[in-house]
Amino acid sequence: MRLRRSALLLALITLFATMLAACAQAPTGGGAGPAPAAAGGLPALAKKDTYKVGFSQVESNNPWRIAQTESMKAEAARLGYELVYTDAAGSEAKQIADVDSMIAQKVDVIFLAPRSEKPLAQAVLKAKAAGIPVILLDRNVDQTIAQAGRDYVTFIGSDFIEEGRRAAEWLDQATGGNAKIIQLEGTVGASPAIDRATGFANYLKDKPGMTIIASQTGDFARDKGRQVMETLLQANPDVTAVYTHNDEMAVGAIAALEAAGKVPGKDVIVVSIDGTKDAIQAILDGTLGATVECNPKFGPKAFETMLAYANGEQLPAKIINPDRFFDIKNAAEYLPEAY
Ligand code: AHR
Repeated sequence: MRLRRSALLLALITLFATMLAACAQAPTGGGAGPAPAAAGGLPALAKKDTYKVGFSQVESNNPWRIAQTESMKAEAARLGYELVYTDAAGSEAKQIADVDSMIAQKVDVIFLAPRSEKPLAQAVLKAKAAGIPVILLDRNVDQTIAQAGRDYVTFIGSDFIEEGRRAAEWLDQATGGNAKIIQLEGTVGASPAIDRATGFANYLKDKPGMTIIASQTGDFARDKGRQVMETLLQANPDVTAVYTHNDEMAVGAIAALEAAGKVPGKDVIVVSIDGTKDAIQAILDGTLGATVECNPKFGPKAFETMLAYANGEQLPAKIINPDRFFDIKNAAEYLPEAY
């Protein structure tokens, strides 16, 4: 009798452990696998001839954002859709209010470029509760709060970790594996800032000659990048390389280096991410070493994805944009199409 009871207990423990393991392995929606089924109540999108579409932009203070907005507006116009466009001017509170306003205006779908991961995840949940599907553009939200296929449709954007890795790999080769690096980070809490730092740091793990001597946010902005670089240069005059999370900060950092009497491209090697016209020109001028592309032209892919969702197609949790790489070998060829 006692033996049978122990066997039953053992069977129950095994069953419980198996269930726990299955839960731990379940896809989170943040990976590259398919989004979980819409069982979580993801709002549907009706098939219609025309749509009223919201696009919530983060800010418009740099060429990347302007190119992204132009691409979204052009595609909406081409399709004959009404576009409700908002610019959060770099404010999370404003962006949350912008999403509220789109909900009040009863848009059919919201394209959201979230300024940072956590606060804007709440805006995603609000839209879902109002029955409006959300497609994330270029930045992600906190996966512990909102997930693809359950709370939002999908994420379209670059692989930011890979961008950081590619920047680190280029810098490693350009400096012969020896560099004292200043890193200018993007907006605190924004997915590209988090992931670009991670991808860069991961690559450097087994590169003992490559050291990050200082790292601070420049908020993805040219002026802030310049100011932060000026301060960091005073404390770290022995810097030999700069890694910036976007081109605007690279242009600012280059100005600060020059003002401090350093020769960017010779005394200090600079690597960045985006592919803006100013950055490509800086490569041709010899002040910027290279930039990993982060393509801002989302319009066609964004609307194609929206229509695929309306057609009931199964979408992956992430749709990754292919990105190129620009250095002195191809900068002149790319310059005419740069933004
Ligand atoms: O989210 C993408 C990043 O945001 C771009 O690299 C940057 O320029 C923009 O502000």
